[in-house]
Amino acid sequence: MRILHVAAEIYPLVKTGGLADVVAALPAALAARGLDVRLLLPGMPAILNGVSDQQRVIRLGPAFGAAVITLRLGRMPDSGLLAYVIDAPFLYRRDGNPYLGPDGRDWKDNHRRYALLGWIAAHLAGGELDRNWQPEVVHAHDWHAGLAPAYIAQNPALTTASVFTIHNLAFRGLFPLDHYSDLGLLITGAHQSALEFHGHLSFMKSALVHAKRVNAVSPTYAREICTPEFGWGLEGLLRGRGNDLSGILNGVDYSVWDPAGDPALPCSYSADHLLGKEVCKLKLQSELGFAVRVQAPLFAVVSRLTSQKGMDLVLRALPALLAEGGQLVVIGSGDAEIEAGFRAAAAAHGEAVSVHFGYDDAFAHRIIAAADLLLVPSRFEPCGLTQLYALRYGTLPLVRRVGGLADTVIDATPENLTLGTANGFVFHAASSRALAARASDACKLFRHPGRWLQVQKCGMAQDFSWADSAARYEALYRSI
Ligand code: ADP
Ligand code: GLC
Repeated sequence: MRILHVAAEIYPLVKTGGLADVVAALPAALAARGLDVRLLLPGMPAILNGVSDQQRVIRLGPAFGAAVITLRLGRMPDSGLLAYVIDAPFLYRRDGNPYLGPDGRDWKDNHRRYALLGWIAAHLAGGELDRNWQPEVVHAHDWHAGLAPAYIAQNPALTTASVFTIHNLAFRGLFPLDHYSDLGLLITGAHQSALEFHGHLSFMKSALVHAKRVNAVSPTYAREICTPEFGWGLEGLLRGRGNDLSGILNGVDYSVWDPAGDPALPCSYSADHLLGKEVCKLKLQSELGFAVRVQAPLFAVVSRLTSQKGMDLVLRALPALLAEGGQLVVIGSGDAEIEAGFRAAAAAHGEAVSVHFGYDDAFAHRIIAAADLLLVPSRFEPCGLTQLYALRYGTLPLVRRVGGLADTVIDATPENLTLGTANGFVFHAASSRALAARASDACKLFRHPGRWLQVQKCGMAQDFSWADSAARYEALYRSI
């Protein structure tokens, strides 16, 4: 079965979040199951430079504002998967964030940049671009690839099935209505409402309407988005898709995230040899200028610093963490106000709070290895990957019971501790008080190394590899 994955980012070339991790790992897991999988990516500089052995497939243009568009086929680093790259210099040859300009605002032509991605996907499906390979399923990820199903649907001769994965419904791909004429869509009249969302165009809505199947990245999130609290106004549409909507949990690429073979760590370790984790912790404490003490609970945040991620709750719960003798290391970037809050906290408590703005993959690995607890107090969380990484690194996740966090973290209640099923800490209310209370419980357990070790070992033994989820995706493809 021939499957084309369409996405705007892919680890390790372009990454703003977990989407990139999934787009690198899921296609590889499907290929390992024997499926014929290719990728379609926009030609951002890092992608043009990172995909090797590129051959020209076809030259097109002008279209979507670009004078020339060259479609190339090459190989991804690491996985070796075949990837089509759309080289459209006018649209994509821009460094940095794939969605935002240097001023931190959306690129003004994002509707054209990402419409082209979906358009090329549909025309690969139609066989017009590459006569040697035609996908049977086009699998589009998030709003960036969200027009692919509509472009496929507008060609009645096409039998290609489209699958759309929602990684984050909060980003709906909204554009002014008058941009419609730039999209080359033939959809008119009543069908045009399929793209219209409260006076805007929405690439996300278009995908939810046109894709043959829609899935979200965890079972709980798939249910949550059918409610007004999590649906961003699209809950009615999602409910209307009935059984066409499902939830499939993301997996972890353990070739990237495993403390036994992680080149970023000063010392490797495993569940049976946890001394290395202590070395990672002591080294980081020393590097950050913290008291170098195994007994001090080290909390970590590796996250976008946004309200989605509950980072304001962390700031308000900070006094309680410090009162427990805790230390906090943060890496991330995001909302100016939240960044300012963390900057002030680090200035006031330099001996126990260290904040690093920006993106640093190797440092994120070292932090997750060194910490005792990873804080993920999200207001909503489609899946969340860092809590899964933390579990493998013997770092207990402390999470809010929402989305994929609810599906993966089992609270250390007395009952679950007795059963031996606990792997972290869970709280319910989206309040700093609830977070602080559970953090304080976590610190109590931390003072009992034997019981702590039991929870660590439970998490480290869990298998969230892609095998199961890839099998579910394959079953979804086969069903259509
Ligand atoms: P989201 O995609 O919503 O941001 P996920 O938990 O799914 O959340 O994925 C976040 C990914 O980004 C993880 O791979 C995490 O390690 C990584 N990450 C987040 N912030 C940083 C950062 N500042 N530096 C390096 N990696 C980061
Ligand atoms: C989104 C979500 C995150 C999820 C990731 C990968 O960025 O916010 O929860 O893990 O996509 O699916």
